[in-house]
Amino acid sequence: MALELAISEFSFQYWKDSPRALTNVSLTIAPGSVCALLGPTNSGKTTLLHAITGILGSHHRDAIASGQIRVGDDAFTPLPDRVLFPTVGLTLQDPYYQISGLCDTVVEEISLTLETLDIHGSDIPSRVMALLDKLGLSHLAHRKPSTLSGGELQRVALANILVAQPPILLLDEPSNSLDGTSLRRFASIVCGLKGSTTMVVADYQLELAILTADQFVIMDGGKIIFSGDRVQFIGNLSRFRALLPVGLLEQTLRSIPDSTLRKRIMMTIGIR
Ligand SMILES: Nc1ncnc2c1ncn2[C@@H]1O[C@H](COP(=O)(O)OP(=O)(O)OP(=O)(O)O)[C@@H](O)[C@H]1O
Ligand SMILES: [Mg+2]
Repeated sequence: MALELAISEFSFQYWKDSPRALTNVSLTIAPGSVCALLGPTNSGKTTLLHAITGILGSHHRDAIASGQIRVGDDAFTPLPDRVLFPTVGLTLQDPYYQISGLCDTVVEEISLTLETLDIHGSDIPSRVMALLDKLGLSHLAHRKPSTLSGGELQRVALANILVAQPPILLLDEPSNSLDGTSLRRFASIVCGLKGSTTMVVADYQLELAILTADQFVIMDGGKIIFSGDRVQFIGNLSRFRALLPVGLLEQTLRSIPDSTLRKRIMMTIGIR
């Protein structure tokens, strides 16, 4: 079941004298919804995702943090000090780090995730195959993970997390290695998880956000500078031309089937 995710006045420094990577970040994400976390490089997107999942708390013992992170009913003040997987699943910005390197096939790789969670059973291969099928990845089942392309690896990395059915899913720049077709496919996977999974999609690109998100948050310099729903985001998009690749949206917008929505977005950001 999807869980609410709430971040309250959260600030973070990697060490005592370093600049703040995050300053007073407050954000609530409704259960089962998708939040797009947008912002230029170094704006703090990865830091925030790593704080939520517990990587920061368990790996950066000299860090200075304040505020609170709440995952469902579990409140951490200021942040989880252990990795919360499988309650919180995270796909890393670089999917190569998501693969163990120990397995000969994608099926084995994904089965290994279940084994590390102490989930065993003769039905695991069929369960993994069913997931791959659902994600349109059956053709990769018997490939060696290290031979996959960036886009293939991106989707296998997602499968590797989804197999644990995390109620909260954090995706760090998932559109990095996806071209137009695989991006739309990825977007439909994300939309299919709505309702059962609370998701945060961190990205510099806007396409996946536009195709999937209910809530839009823009970060700059470690702070949230905008938060709003789809209509508010679209209405304000032209303000963020200097921070986000607004102009590059045109191609994706033309592929949105809902013509009313498409026209409204295109007019707002000045694309004819
Ligand atoms: N391990 C670390 N140690 C020290 N500082 C770090 C570390 N990781 C990130 N930072 C700093 O924290 C700030 C935020 O970086 P972060 O990686 O969270 O940004 P980002 O929005 O994810 O950027 P990108 O779009 O390039 O992935 C930056 O100033 C960065 O230099
Ligand atoms: Mg990042």
